[in-house]
Amino acid sequence: MTVHFIGAGPGAPDLLTLRGRDRIAGSPVCLYAGSLIPAAMLDHCPPGARIVNTATLSLDAIITEIVAAHDAGHDVARLHSGDLSIWSAMGEQLRRLRSLGIPFTITPGVPAFAAAAAALEVELTLPELVQSVVLTRTPGRASAMPPAETLTAFAATGATLAIHLSVHNLAKVVADVTPHYGSGCPVAIVWRASWPDQQIARATLATIAEVIADKPDRTALILVGQALGARDFAESSLYAAGYDRRFRPQSADSKFAGQNV
Ligand SMILES: C[S@@+](CC[C@H](N)C(=O)[O-])C[C@H]1O[C@@H](n2cnc3c(N)ncnc32)[C@H](O)[C@@H]1O
Repeated sequence: MTVHFIGAGPGAPDLLTLRGRDRIAGSPVCLYAGSLIPAAMLDHCPPGARIVNTATLSLDAIITEIVAAHDAGHDVARLHSGDLSIWSAMGEQLRRLRSLGIPFTITPGVPAFAAAAAALEVELTLPELVQSVVLTRTPGRASAMPPAETLTAFAATGATLAIHLSVHNLAKVVADVTPHYGSGCPVAIVWRASWPDQQIARATLATIAEVIADKPDRTALILVGQALGARDFAESSLYAAGYDRRFRPQSADSKFAGQNV
């Protein structure tokens, strides 16, 4: 018996990986994390599977479900939205499973920030302009932030910010980042990226509050940074015609000549 943690992606059922689909199909028990998992994902469960929405369960109750499946010899598909490496609460489940000696696998998924960037048709890193993306959030009722992880500190780097779990807190986000990015800096908010009811707002830090006045305050990603609006950026050296590289040596004297095998 194995617990298969599966990143279920941002929402569109066809953004589940093939490995994730196959692990769901092979597991007689499916525990899924609430409304961010589309119902169509559960269609991959085998007939007669025990399917449990864990949104209302405590960690203890979730582990009880897993132990019951373990005792019955049933594999468990454990679905979380997006990827498992960020804000999935997988870490605490892994710790319990390790101490219980219950085996597990981990299948990554498409994270929401990637789906949001796709919806916006942007690359979040651009040559010479921005080369880092900060995946962060603002504090929530159940989750304080470590003291050094402030938006102000991240904004000081000029990186593209992908701010999760914070659309209800937009005024604070804007106040914290504007001193570093300037009020004309592009900002975009994507609600439910890749879902049929996806919505997008694009504005500047100065205007975003009025643009989103009538929008929902849940399940959205805020992206801030110059990459969102840049048109006049350098092209990557890697694909420049004269760039000497292993797969395109520029002369017989190139240190890469003859290495492309
Ligand atoms: C608990 S976190 C889960 C993040 C997830 N593990 C990931 O890899 O993206 C939930 C937050 O992720 C963001 N999010 C998740 N799915 C989203 C989507 N389809 N569109 C926009 N934001 C999304 C929102 O900021 C939401 O409040």
